Amino acid sequence: MDPNGRSHSNQSKDAFPESVSRPENLRLTHNYRAMAASYDAMRYDGPVQEFRLAHALETIERLVQPDPGMKILDVATGTGKGALCVAASGARVIGLDFTPAMLEILRNKAKTRNREIRLVRGSAAALPFSDGEFDAVVNLNFMHLFPPIARQRIFARELHRVLRPGGRLVVELINLYQGGLMGLYRKRFVEDLGFNAPSDISKLLEPEFEVNRIEGGHFPGAWRLLYPLSKISPGASRRISQISRYRPWKYLTFNCFIQATRR
Ligand SMILES: C[S@@+](CC[C@H](N)C(=O)[O-])C[C@H]1O[C@@H](n2cnc3c(N)ncnc32)[C@H](O)[C@@H]1O
Repeated sequence: MDPNGRSHSNQSKDAFPESVSRPENLRLTHNYRAMAASYDAMRYDGPVQEFRLAHALETIERLVQPDPGMKILDVATGTGKGALCVAASGARVIGLDFTPAMLEILRNKAKTRNREIRLVRGSAAALPFSDGEFDAVVNLNFMHLFPPIARQRIFARELHRVLRPGGRLVVELINLYQGGLMGLYRKRFVEDLGFNAPSDISKLLEPEFEVNRIEGGHFPGAWRLLYPLSKISPGASRRISQISRYRPWKYLTFNCFIQATRR
């Protein structure tokens, strides 16, 4: 089952590349090779999803603050939500992913949009980059694939290693408390998607990072209600959607974005 509640009967036939050393327990449980062709259509196509995506991209850009002088890495870039967002600034952007089919979709999107993004196939558990090479690192909608926190910290350590001191990290996590009790219900009765509780954020990132901001993404279901309003009054619906940046709402959204600084 993926974060949007769709099930994928095929377990991954992909294995980590031979050249990449990894702890045995970091196995990919979704078959992204099979999902690649429909990945964007299932998540980002359609008016409600586009409205939701626009909110996410605005959040990512504001938290990363990309500029042409920066070198930015999007880890587990997939079809490039993060990489394309920050590449618009003119920053030097690298998108890394384990699944070639996902990178191929990103290659085509980058070409169509005239964005320069270097694509690298590799594992987030052993990034093929030098220490301190990046000014900012982005990791979106990925950690839930590898619960619990002890395993997620293996990735956090790599994100920390390739960032320069003072560099910026932006992570998107799937929230256990989405919709109040909805996430707990899904975890208990539907399937544990590897949700993270807000209290996990410090366990995942500290003490190596200083957590600066935590913001909510979209509310489960509520985005559908906001969409018609966006047709009548785009400004008003945008302002309403921004309440997900603040307490207590940011702890009730489907996903949350964290901005942290490498110590
Ligand atoms: C849920 S998708 C997220 C994609 C993108 N960041 C987004 O927000 O749309 C997860 C991605 O992680 C990639 N992935 C899974 N395991 C990986 C690993 N160990 N190293 C790098 N990428 C991995 C998959 O191929 C897939 O593209």
